[in-house]
Amino acid sequence: MHSVLVTGSNRGLGLEWARQYAGEGWRVYATCRRPDEAEALQTLADAHPEVSIHRLDVTDREQVEDMAAVLAGQPLDLLINNAGIYLERWGRDKLGQIDYDDWLTTLAVNTLGAFRVTEALLPSLEQGRKRLVVNISSHMGSIADINAPNDYAYRSSKAALNAASRGLSFELASLNIGLLLLHPGWVRTRMGGREAPLSPEESVAGMRAVVARFDPSMSGKFYRYDGQAMPW
Ligand SMILES: NC(=O)c1ccc[n+]([C@@H]2O[C@H](COP(=O)([O-])OP(=O)(O)OC[C@H]3O[C@@H](n4cnc5c(N)ncnc54)[C@H](OP(=O)(O)O)[C@@H]3O)[C@@H](O)[C@H]2O)c1
Repeated sequence: MHSVLVTGSNRGLGLEWARQYAGEGWRVYATCRRPDEAEALQTLADAHPEVSIHRLDVTDREQVEDMAAVLAGQPLDLLINNAGIYLERWGRDKLGQIDYDDWLTTLAVNTLGAFRVTEALLPSLEQGRKRLVVNISSHMGSIADINAPNDYAYRSSKAALNAASRGLSFELASLNIGLLLLHPGWVRTRMGGREAPLSPEESVAGMRAVVARFDPSMSGKFYRYDGQAMPW
């Protein structure tokens, strides 16, 4: 049986990753900040005995260490670093209105969070068969894509995730672990909003297909949910 750990799996794309792998019979470590309030995840776990729910705020070092302890000695095939925030949704990050605390929080979740979790779970990934880390990025982290102001915090957090992940992929290669950066498309979630053209089902099905055909030549590269290469 394959195993996957998903961060931020109580709603949106994270919930859909958990749902689709559970449907395929995978062992799913579904993590979220507040398990007590994660009703959709609880429903999923009730229907699939191989789904377990774990408390994990990706900015909390102790919770990350606790999660690594739960997995200690067990293989992990796939890690999906999905948790992410977009605090400046209402254009608060125009010059003169930049909230530097929000910016730091965004970096702590979107950039450092993925690294913290990956580093802690390496011993389990090294025992896995698939041996793959997927970092959920965004087209907004593509510097080539920037032709307007605003979104400084979110864009820089994902661009930093891209840069740091690209470097990490070389270190992981020596451990025979792969790394993919994926842009989910514009998706109807709380972050993406109602106008987005893609459903979580479509986006995650596409990203799962990229994961399924992963080979080491793809490691450290950035792809859209449909497998198209993304510009840096
Ligand atoms: N939707 C899109 O169009 C789109 C486009 C490009 C990239 N993305 C990326 O896709 C990923 C998922 O986004 P989404 O659309 O599913 O967003 P979402 O519906 O807003 O869900 C975000 C998830 O991240 C969790 N989260 C936030 N801070 C966390 C933390 N410190 N520790 C652990 N979990 C945390 C949230 O948990 P709580 O419920 O506890 O807040 C929630 O489960 C993100 O990385 C996002 O940047 C989305």
